[in-house]
Amino acid sequence: MCGIFAYTGNNGKNAGEVLLDGLSSLEYRGYDSAGIYLPESGIVKSTGAVSQLRRKLPAGYFGKSGIAHIRWATHGEPTEINAHPHKDCSGNIWLAHNGIVENYKELREKLTELGHTFLSATDTEVLAHLIEEHLKVEKDFERAALAALREVKGTYGLAIAYALEPEKVIAARMGSPVVLGLGENERFIASDASPILKHTSQVVFLEDGEIAVITPTKHDIFKLDGGRIERKAEKIDWNVEAAQRGGYQHFMLKEIMEGPEVVENTLRGRLLEKEGLAKLGGLEGVADEIKKAERMIIVGCGTAYYAGLTGEYMLEEHAGIPVEVELGSEFRYRHPVLNPKTMLLAVSQSGETLDTLEAIREGKRRGALTLSIVNTVGSTIARETDAGVYNHAGPEIGVASTKALVSQLTALSLLTIFLGRQRRMSIETGQEIARELQAIPDKIRSILERRTEIERLAKKYAKARDFLYIGRKYNYSIAFEGALKLKEISYIHAEGCGAGEMKHGPLAMIDEHFPTMAIATSDSVYEKVASNIQEIKARKGPVIALATEGNHEIAKAADDVIYVPKTIEMLSPILNVVPLQLFAYYFAKEKGYNVDRPRNLAKSVTVE
Ligand code: G6P
Repeated sequence: MCGIFAYTGNNGKNAGEVLLDGLSSLEYRGYDSAGIYLPESGIVKSTGAVSQLRRKLPAGYFGKSGIAHIRWATHGEPTEINAHPHKDCSGNIWLAHNGIVENYKELREKLTELGHTFLSATDTEVLAHLIEEHLKVEKDFERAALAALREVKGTYGLAIAYALEPEKVIAARMGSPVVLGLGENERFIASDASPILKHTSQVVFLEDGEIAVITPTKHDIFKLDGGRIERKAEKIDWNVEAAQRGGYQHFMLKEIMEGPEVVENTLRGRLLEKEGLAKLGGLEGVADEIKKAERMIIVGCGTAYYAGLTGEYMLEEHAGIPVEVELGSEFRYRHPVLNPKTMLLAVSQSGETLDTLEAIREGKRRGALTLSIVNTVGSTIARETDAGVYNHAGPEIGVASTKALVSQLTALSLLTIFLGRQRRMSIETGQEIARELQAIPDKIRSILERRTEIERLAKKYAKARDFLYIGRKYNYSIAFEGALKLKEISYIHAEGCGAGEMKHGPLAMIDEHFPTMAIATSDSVYEKVASNIQEIKARKGPVIALATEGNHEIAKAADDVIYVPKTIEMLSPILNVVPLQLFAYYFAKEKGYNVDRPRNLAKSVTVE
């Protein structure tokens, strides 16, 4: 999730200043490198934050228009060469991109054959060369941009500059947000309204498949087929912070709401549904070792550890690989027995959690093949492991992890197909998981659409001082994760428990003041969990059941029911975790806590 920002004006303002200032308010979208291009003054790039870019600007860096970018790497390490804006061979076409070009490999090969030279490892650079190629035929910047974008598969929010028409900037949108700002003799393009608001509150939101051509006094919007669109400007009265959160009150809610998109981004270009296969390019370099591997150990901390626990069930059932899951903090000190046929898989959103990193280092010392599922490209864990899979979930700002977990579970499902099809998984099972995975985003959407019901329940139970979460099999770990979400942002006692373990202790705590969240979706252990609900009700414990749509029976036993759509058992955790995240969010909000920054906790734990 990078940020783009572009400006063109004829009122004496220095585009360089306007752009740098605006980039700072987009920093929450990325922070590993930044760049700026003004046709009148050229390109400046830097690794790190906007302040570092500012320090590199030469004296007299001035222009009336330009484009800028803050990067959150997805393809290619966060180096200066990979920082945007990127250019074509002539050095006249420059662009800043937020998104992923899925067919960049094919395009890059084709353009290389045509004589184009590439400087970076990014997917983005192909776009500049593709426009250059079309410009040879079209002889017109706008028509060339349209023709090029028609060839692109994937997502983009784009700002494109052309040195020979410096007053003009082109914006384009497909799957990544783009807002136009309409000021007095000035126009803006940005990933969200936050860098624009200081200058104007008049905005136009682009839709997917649209491009806009801006000059200081005009903006024209077209469909990709060239057809013109008329759209009225809207006035927005958000402040900068609200704009960064997309209008949501907290990053945590915004990130939960991003769930469908996150699953799409994690899956993008990786599923071959017809063949029932998963393509994980990051693992290609160690394909032989992976084929020979006899066992896997998954390490992680916090939410990532719970993702690993669900992964264990997926991988053992469908890929037939013996899997153990460990907390990074335990693994590193306990002399584990490993060999080159052991895969040690780190799961980490940040890629910097010290205990997970040290577990990987310990694994390396003991000869294991080290792998990772990491969200932050170029992070230490991503760099130090032998191979890995990136989540592409975009930066997560809320301290309590939400969208990263949804993405980690999706990545583990892909890994299950990948490893399973090398081993015992049938093509039919591979196809079924692939098909169901593709349906997950819409199913999450339908859960999110009903979030006010969950809000109502959270308010109803917000006075509880304790909460029990029970689940079994694939949803065993999700019960622990649900409890973790509640305790970390609500500061109340919440406990996860395997539903089958209830009678070995936790049942003793139950009375009319001690509610339980029971994950009871229709799967192979549904009857067992339904019995546990009866046991709790017999002790007067209030129960919220998380059940599959269409199960009306459960409403007779439980006090309240949250319904989720049906999917296959293996993927049910991806859906079930979403209402639990929403429940924790609304519960903490009702208590008046700062859900994005819970007390005593940090987003990334880089100390022991
Ligand atoms: C911290 C965060 C959690 C996260 C855990 C692991 O405790 O608050 O949300 O799950 O670290 O972080 P990682 O970046 O390794 O996934």
